[in-house]
Amino acid sequence: MSKPLLDTLTGLSPSRRPVWLMRQAGRYLPEYREVRQTAGGFLNLCYTPDLACEVTLQPLRRYDLDAAILFADILLIPQAMGCDLDFRENEGPVLRKIGSAADVAQLNSGIDELNKILSPVYDAVSAIKSNLDEDKTLIGFCGAPWTVATYMIEGGTSVERAASRLAAFANEDWLNELVDKLVSASIEYLSCQVEAGAEVLQIFDTWSGDLSGELLQRYCFQPIAAMRSELKKRHPHVPVIGFARGIGVSQTDFVAASKVDGVSIEWPVNTGWARDNLIERCVVQGNLDPLSLIGGGDGMLNATRQILQDLPADRHIFNLGHGIRKETPPEHVSDLVSFIREFDRTAKP
Ligand code: CP3
Repeated sequence: MSKPLLDTLTGLSPSRRPVWLMRQAGRYLPEYREVRQTAGGFLNLCYTPDLACEVTLQPLRRYDLDAAILFADILLIPQAMGCDLDFRENEGPVLRKIGSAADVAQLNSGIDELNKILSPVYDAVSAIKSNLDEDKTLIGFCGAPWTVATYMIEGGTSVERAASRLAAFANEDWLNELVDKLVSASIEYLSCQVEAGAEVLQIFDTWSGDLSGELLQRYCFQPIAAMRSELKKRHPHVPVIGFARGIGVSQTDFVAASKVDGVSIEWPVNTGWARDNLIERCVVQGNLDPLSLIGGGDGMLNATRQILQDLPADRHIFNLGHGIRKETPPEHVSDLVSFIREFDRTAKP
């Protein structure tokens, strides 16, 4: 049985253009909100394999998507390291702040210690895999070291991540040590996800747009390149998608340096530019503005048509330029997916 998403990433000709959506499981779906309520909190949902499996599969029951993405969060690694993660209602994540060599030295980083805490995530991957239709691809993921480090340094979400960027400009030893620990922990985490059944991996660098020049190389390109290289040694057939959000034309340097198999682009990246500059080197994923999915109608469909025209169906994974927002009407997602399928059916020679 062919798998459109995996086939596209491994250079086989896919039976159709693959589609999935970042944050496709979540609060915009009433069935998610129901399970979330019974779970008694977001983290309980992530650490209860049957529930994590259930919410992972919910969007695939509603929509004709080509992939499931493990339901978890990029902040489970800092939590396993000992950062006391809490998700507060309407406030987002809160963590104990890291800001010195002593703080970094205190973090748990032994593989066995981390895996003891993270093992329910691997059980969720196995459960999802055994419930997934054969033509669907299972995506595992983690946050990129820079992005995860910013949450640890700022103690949560922050508007401009000033403490993290100042530490980067100062080339602080403790930041470099923290990034190294995150690289090692993330390799183990992703590797265990593959052993449990993940077929593609995505690394989310949500805040790489904070960086430029040499710092972009040091804190975004190099850590992701190190992860990709070790993962390829361990699992040569598992493609890696990189999402270095907000770096614009530096996407070409990112792809060259990291050697990712797929690159996920944010919506301000022009898709004609992506076709001319990225598609030869790797598969391109993206990049509809998630806000247009809230609006729906012609605004959404016109933006979608442009993306479909610009990017060839066998080298493109349709996705958003960032995660679905909770205000999204679920019917707009059905409209979107039907439009993509119809476009490709009628565009075929
Ligand atoms: O894509 C999926 O469907 C898989 C699950 C997934 C979640 N988070 C579930 C989630 C994935 C891939 C993530 C990644 C993630 N988490 C990122 C990188 C991608 C991005 O969006 O930039 C980041 C930065 C986080 C950190 C995070 N998690 C924040 C800042 C928040 C709070 C803000 C918010 O949207 O509520 C979360 C919570 C979170 N992660 C939710 C979900 C479904 C909402 C939790 C809830 O049910 O209340």
